[in-house]
Amino acid sequence: MTRIFLVGFMACGKTTLGKNLAKSLGLSFVDLDMYIEGRYYKSVSDIFSELGEEKFREIERRILHEVSEFEDVVISTGGGTPCFFDNMEYMNTMGETIYLNTNTERIAERIKAAGDKRPLVRGKKDDELKIYIEEMKKKRESFYKKAKHTLDSTFLEDYSQIRETVSKAIEILSL
Ligand code: S3P
Repeated sequence: MTRIFLVGFMACGKTTLGKNLAKSLGLSFVDLDMYIEGRYYKSVSDIFSELGEEKFREIERRILHEVSEFEDVVISTGGGTPCFFDNMEYMNTMGETIYLNTNTERIAERIKAAGDKRPLVRGKKDDELKIYIEEMKKKRESFYKKAKHTLDSTFLEDYSQIRETVSKAIEILSL
């Protein structure tokens, strides 16, 4: 039975890598945010604005426990998932965990390219966004680093880069 969790900052490539890794290994793929959105019939943004972050974190934890029962699956988590409750320790007991590490410049580019969909960075100007990413990364890194493996996910901009990063993931997992 294989269960792989991908963790890391917003826009570090968890969903892109997760889908492709799952496909290469013949596993199912679950994106935690999308799963929550399907369950609540609301976007993560709307959950944040209507119920608040604290409630979102409770929902996120509960749904994390639900999807962690699935077998033969790659699960991409939200950027904050490992940083609340005992979520990171829990994921480590439930399967393999990979921290996708990406530099601030690349994260900022991807966040901008994705538009306004992320509630925590909505409306931030370029400089402000980079400072925010740097500060948040410092706070969150100690949680991400508890993952069993770390993988550089700076290069996921075209299919050959994605394929290469998928191969590295398979190698570090010894699969
Ligand atoms: C969050 C990251 C988002 C989403 C929510 C909160 C965070 O997921 O879970 O907006 O706290 O960093 P992505 O990492 O997929 O952007």
